[in-house]
Amino acid sequence: MTEYRGAEATVDVGEVAVKRRQKKTYRHPDLDSRLRRERTDDEARLLERAHKYGVAVPGLLGSSEFELEMEAVDGDRLKARLPDSAVMEQLGTEVAKLHSAQVIHGDLTTSNVVLSGDDPFLIDFGLAYTSERAEDRAVDIHLLHQVLCSSHPGLPRTRGRRSWTDTPSSSAPMPWSTRWRMCGRGGATPDIKI
Ligand SMILES: Nc1ncnc2c1ncn2[C@@H]1O[C@H](COP(=O)(O)OP(=O)(O)O)[C@@H](O)[C@H]1O
Ligand SMILES: [Mg+2]
Repeated sequence: MTEYRGAEATVDVGEVAVKRRQKKTYRHPDLDSRLRRERTDDEARLLERAHKYGVAVPGLLGSSEFELEMEAVDGDRLKARLPDSAVMEQLGTEVAKLHSAQVIHGDLTTSNVVLSGDDPFLIDFGLAYTSERAEDRAVDIHLLHQVLCSSHPGLPRTRGRRSWTDTPSSSAPMPWSTRWRMCGRGGATPDIKI
C-alpha cells in the first residue's frame, strides 16, 4: 500500500485507490464539511462522465461523503516516464476524448497521469468542470505544455499551429502529432512526436 498526501486529500493505493478529503481545521466546520462533500461529489460525477465517454480513467467503485474508492492504476506516474512519445501520443487522444465529453480536467500535470503498462490514465478530477468553450480546453492543454516545459526541460515543445486544440469539433479525437523542438535550451533534440 502506498500513501500519497496532497494539499487536500490523502490517497491510499493498494488493491484499490481510496481518496479521502481531510478536515481543514482553519475552516469553519460547517463550511469545511460542505466544501469537502461538494468536491468529492463533483469529482465522482466527472470521473464517471469521463468513464462513460470512453476516456481512460479509473473506474469509480464507490463514494461516500468525503471519500472516493476507485480502481487502482498499477504503474508509474507520467512524470517518471518522460520522454515517451507513444505514451504522449495516446495521452493526446485521451485528452481529446475528455474534451469531446465537455469535461475540462483543470489540473493536467504529469502527476495526474498514471500509466498502466504504456497506457496513460487520467486521474484527479478534483478541479475538473464541464465546459464547451474552446478557451477552457486550450487552458487545459496550455497547462500541460507548461508543465512539460518547466518540469521536464529535456522535452521538446510544439512548433507551428497544429495542436490538440485544432480538433475541429467534438467528433473524432485528433492525435497530437506535432513536431516538437527543445524548450529554449540547447542540446540534442530527441526526435519524438507528441
Ligand atoms: N486510481 C489511482 N491509481 C493509482 N494511483 C493513484 C490513483 N489515484 C491517485 N493515485 C496516486 O495518488 C496521487 C495523488 O492523487 P490525486 O488524485 O492526484 O490527489 P491530489 O488531489 O492530492 O493531487 C497521484 O499522483 C497518484 O500517484
Ligand atoms: Mg493530483
